[in-house]
Amino acid sequence: MRSVIIEALKGATGRDEIGLEFSQVEFHGDYSSNIALVLAKESGGNPKVLGEEIAEKLRKDKELSGHISKIEVAGPGFINFFLSEKALLAQLASIEKEKEAYGTSDRGKGKTVVIDYSSPNIAKRFGVGHIRSTIIGQVLYNLHKFLGYKVIGDNHLGDWGTQFGTLLYQIDFKGLDASKLTIDELEKLYVEFNSEAEKNERLWEMARAWFKKLEEKDPKAREIWKQIVNISMAEFSRIYETLGVKIDYIHGESFFADKMSAIIEEARMRQLSKKSEGAEIVEFKGLPPAMLVKSDGTTTYFTRDLATIKFRIAEWNPDLIIYEVGSDQTLHFRQLFETARLLGWAKGREFVHVAHGLIRFEHGKMSTRRGETIRLEEVLDDARARAKGIIDKSETGRGLLQKEKEKVAKAVGIGAVKYFDLKHHPTTDIIFDWEKIFVLQGNSAPYLQYTVARTNSVLAKAQTVNSKQLTVNNLNDEEKKILRSFSRFSEIIATAAKSYSPNLLANYLFDLAQKYNNFYNQHRIIGGENEAFKLRLTSAIGQVLKNGLTLLGIETPERM
Ligand code: ARG
Repeated sequence: MRSVIIEALKGATGRDEIGLEFSQVEFHGDYSSNIALVLAKESGGNPKVLGEEIAEKLRKDKELSGHISKIEVAGPGFINFFLSEKALLAQLASIEKEKEAYGTSDRGKGKTVVIDYSSPNIAKRFGVGHIRSTIIGQVLYNLHKFLGYKVIGDNHLGDWGTQFGTLLYQIDFKGLDASKLTIDELEKLYVEFNSEAEKNERLWEMARAWFKKLEEKDPKAREIWKQIVNISMAEFSRIYETLGVKIDYIHGESFFADKMSAIIEEARMRQLSKKSEGAEIVEFKGLPPAMLVKSDGTTTYFTRDLATIKFRIAEWNPDLIIYEVGSDQTLHFRQLFETARLLGWAKGREFVHVAHGLIRFEHGKMSTRRGETIRLEEVLDDARARAKGIIDKSETGRGLLQKEKEKVAKAVGIGAVKYFDLKHHPTTDIIFDWEKIFVLQGNSAPYLQYTVARTNSVLAKAQTVNSKQLTVNNLNDEEKKILRSFSRFSEIIATAAKSYSPNLLANYLFDLAQKYNNFYNQHRIIGGENEAFKLRLTSAIGQVLKNGLTLLGIETPERM
């Protein structure tokens, strides 16, 4: 729809840059353009008069008149477009025809995107920051796929670095059996090491020596390290399973350990590397330097990230690489992207850091700022238990079999946690508040899931939906509002992907669900006027909400 209007505006003004926005209030129609204001500013003319001239031309546009019922000039000179009933009803027919594919497009066709997300560190608990990265990263993945991009998810597991030297040293020194350690015990070893090392500086040397051994493929070091990887991956896989997330590839930092010298060579050849106090660094204009090689000869997170880019280019030749990583790594990514550019790797390619904010827990034991004491699995279990409580209380819920109830509780509990994250813009710091996560009459996953279940139950009661019945007379306001929202769905998806903002889709879905519930409360559907049409609308609402929630990685139980 948007493109038809834009084409018409281009024709009427002779311009190829046209601004066209969704109207904020219904009173102003569906779309609004500021082109008359822009032109008037350039020519010194009167924007209202100019707007009228353009509108007059557009009103004669045959192509446009099939979609638009009214064109108006409002305020200082905005040109407002009102979609025709015919155009609105065409959306309904598309939903019925395209079903789960409604909203897809081919705008990403021929383009490849690599998304680096989740990327937890081994020997540590899966932190709340990583859960944000996992949830948001997966949605960015889904959105791009929906838009026709070739998408590759790559989990940059933190499994290499000097810090593992401290663990290897401790495990060897204490004679521990690494295969029997838990993640909690591994974390404790870190803490212990740090406090010991405060008293005894020499321990750092030992740790560095162990990491060096690891880099030099010493069999004992490799063996212990491998066990730590396995213990960690077992926990991470459980979490991915619970979250319903599958990441295409895992290329941990260790994967790049033997690809370091090529990178260092390339940096030297391009005269980017500089010796500094025994280490090798890359300097930038306007940014602090990054470390390529440490003075003890070991490599860094930064160097491994460079090797990762080179690998991804060779493997997939992406047009875009998205890193969904906490905002505390902003400097790292600026240095990384700048280095990639200086190395000549960025031609025709884009690098983006989608930097998420912190999650804070305000209540009780969950009061740490950075989440160190939070066990993510406990939070997820808690969410499921709360969801189960809700279902136990609902009438439909009571009618479910035990097994079905568990399934619904998982969908609702996990969905609620995911949605709470996604309804905020990624960069926002969020405060974890169970009340808000589960608010049944507000902007939450349970509310949306409940609305989908409501559409199912209406349709089940009606039994047959006759989509052949096209005659509709007197659309009421609530129906019109729903149809208007439909016409925005595919654009919202495109904008959410382009601006890395899943919150746009989340909030769109909330608005749509509210529109349906308003309609439901004000009009009789079964046995009411235009029953067949109202049922079609109900079915279409269910479909669009499901499509959107699926993109957000949220399941929609049939009944709840
Ligand atoms: N493992 C890192 C951390 O937890 C995140 C890695 C992000 N991805 C990357 N390519 N650097 O801090």
